[in-house]
Amino acid sequence: MLTDEQNQFLTRIGPGTPMGGLLRAYWQPLLYSHELEECDSAPVRIRLLGESLVAFRDSEGRVGLVDHRCPHRLASLFFGRNEEGGLRCAYHGWQFNVEGRCIDMPNEPGECPLMKKVRVKAYPCREYQGVIWTYMGDGDPPPLPQLGWAMVSPDRKTVLKYMRHCNWVQAMEGDFDSSHLGFLHRDFSQDPKTDRFAKAEGGDTLRGIVALDRKPLLEVADTEAGVMYGACRGTPQDGAYWRVTQFQLPYYTSVPAYNGLNRLKIWVPMDDTHTMVWEANWSPEKVLDPETRAGLKGRVGPSGFLPDDDGWYGRGRFVARENNDYLINRERQREANFTGMEDGAPVQDAAMQESMGAIVDRSQEHLSASDAAIIRMRRSLMRAARALNEQGSLPPSVNDPKLYRAHGEQFLVSGMEGWEDVYARNMVRHYMALGS
Ligand code: FES
Ligand SMILES: [Fe+2]
Repeated sequence: MLTDEQNQFLTRIGPGTPMGGLLRAYWQPLLYSHELEECDSAPVRIRLLGESLVAFRDSEGRVGLVDHRCPHRLASLFFGRNEEGGLRCAYHGWQFNVEGRCIDMPNEPGECPLMKKVRVKAYPCREYQGVIWTYMGDGDPPPLPQLGWAMVSPDRKTVLKYMRHCNWVQAMEGDFDSSHLGFLHRDFSQDPKTDRFAKAEGGDTLRGIVALDRKPLLEVADTEAGVMYGACRGTPQDGAYWRVTQFQLPYYTSVPAYNGLNRLKIWVPMDDTHTMVWEANWSPEKVLDPETRAGLKGRVGPSGFLPDDDGWYGRGRFVARENNDYLINRERQREANFTGMEDGAPVQDAAMQESMGAIVDRSQEHLSASDAAIIRMRRSLMRAARALNEQGSLPPSVNDPKLYRAHGEQFLVSGMEGWEDVYARNMVRHYMALGS
């Protein structure tokens, strides 16, 4: 449980807040490159860290990300014309380049000294492997994180993007919570038979153990980049099934996926009450089948997504959402799965996380031993924000992009070997597979 003051500190990310300052020390992903494909194409509205911005691609292919308010009289540049050299405000024609400089003031007679001075707030952008990133902090940007997903070729990965209508921390906590797997995402048709596990060696059959043992024991450890934990479940045979999950500052989580895939999620706050989730599934070793690469296999139910629109919250919206009770079907809940919702964990997760309220009141919680990892994650975030805010010290992960190569893993451990040793060995193998 947290006091209201601690809860505000943890969750609020607008300009000037301590947690917002921590987030701004890192790069933020904002769009796929293909969402802004054409030079001089229409600008796109972006909500990011509580700011309202527009992104555009200029005539030379460079991406700009600027405050949506024109500095003249604050009309929205979303309605602007993306012309040769930059974005031109639709109101009086002032034009701004990707650096935010005013390059034309056509409603002013003669040379206007204001033109040299006036700027629209602009954030530097960089494109890497099909994703546009921006840096919203002070000073020079740090290196981009070395995410395994970004480093493998396109045929080995799939990326989904979806919005969560609640605060980023409670959404991220949901992903860092091993204990809900045997309940919220339980599918009755896949309940295991004991003999299915005789040959389990890291494939999909491990999934059933989650339904068998629903009281995992957690071992939590701080890392250089954040927190990791192992969740241990017993198996029908000798040995233990370990799921190792990573949290890396400020908002990366990696849970073990099935079928030999790695999974990374990035919980990017659009503002205090909306989160854009980037979910990547990837393999350093194998080419993915087309259905997996389409990104929907096992992740998004048949109702799918609403069509995108140009609004501030117009992308990545599931059809199953709060105003239709996430399409819960009570008969299905009796017969087919634990929630009665469509298959696909993201919607089931959304129903739980959004139902807590836009920013959950953590003073009302009753945490138990199963929440040990979540408690540690909160501490890690608050400690890092405090250190930056009070002493000006950056977390080491800001300037150590290799730390982001670590990801979640699942495996069986028998005999005396410790889970941390098995995990470290797997990480070394994956690290090598990514090259340098
Ligand atoms: S408000 Fe943009 S040019 Fe006047
Ligand atoms: Fe979940």
